[in-house]
Amino acid sequence: MSKQLTLEKEIEDNDLRITTSAPGKVILFGEHAVVYGEPALSTAISLRVFNEVSITSRPFECENPYLREIISLYGIYVNTRTWGDLPVASGLGSSAAYSVSTIAGIEYIHTKRLDLMKIARNGFEVEYNAQGRASPNDTSVATLGGYVILSRSIHSGFMWRIEKGNIFWNIHKMKLTPLKIVIVYTGKPSKTGEMVALVKSLYEKYENVRAAIKRIGEIVLEAVDLIKSNDLDSIGKKMRENHELLRKIGVSNSELDNIVKVLSRYCYGAKITGAGGGGSVIGLLREGASKRILEAFRGSGYTLYFVETGMEGVTVEGFDS
Ligand code: MEV
Repeated sequence: MSKQLTLEKEIEDNDLRITTSAPGKVILFGEHAVVYGEPALSTAISLRVFNEVSITSRPFECENPYLREIISLYGIYVNTRTWGDLPVASGLGSSAAYSVSTIAGIEYIHTKRLDLMKIARNGFEVEYNAQGRASPNDTSVATLGGYVILSRSIHSGFMWRIEKGNIFWNIHKMKLTPLKIVIVYTGKPSKTGEMVALVKSLYEKYENVRAAIKRIGEIVLEAVDLIKSNDLDSIGKKMRENHELLRKIGVSNSELDNIVKVLSRYCYGAKITGAGGGGSVIGLLREGASKRILEAFRGSGYTLYFVETGMEGVTVEGFDS
């Protein structure tokens, strides 16, 4: 029997099941601008999505837009059972971690290996279709782990290029010094599709929004050099500038600005991370500041995470069938 027929027979007899995991991410610099082909710098964090993926022969109604896209891409029925410590719609890449870990599970069941480039490309297609518009940033970080830079130019750490319409991104995986990051998660959803659509409408109307997007792209490249030289004061300054530009393009609000203000007392710099409108703010921690930050946000109802950066990308955790 051919490999494909054997697989189909196995699926008929039994659901095929595997457990995978993928990391969440923080965008250190460059969210939204990256949708327009500008650079972005992100890192995989120590909060993960775990995902039991099963391929089944039984059709079912699927309400999850990401899973619906995956089912349509692969032409098979897939079920998932998901857990972990990454909050949903938090600006921390939960949908990318979910899509990438599901795709990795399907690919591994089929081929017994993880083809990272294929997983990242398919992950991007799924996010793009489910959200209406996206960059390959979040799915690249969930796939590769470590520090990921998307840019127009090619430099060390180049992995592959992804294109959509007339926009392209060169994807790089970099080894950079670990950073001490605090995340303040508001508990309010950050709806990526809606925020990306909002920025698009402003981008088309206003020259100053287009200029802000361009400046964010420049900041990313300046920040990469500063991280390489471990110049924490200057990185913090760039974070503040990046946040001001995110305000200009309409993705902040008074609550997020206030969190940035409070964090700025204890951090080198702070900014929104991810799509904004809700979700999370990050701060680059000063030595010994954690306790005072916890104190400052006591009773706020926010969840604080002190995370490690540069964590592992998508991986197979085990089989249970
Ligand atoms: C969302 O985490 C990041 C955005 O730049 C959207 C994207 O890159 O697809 C807002």
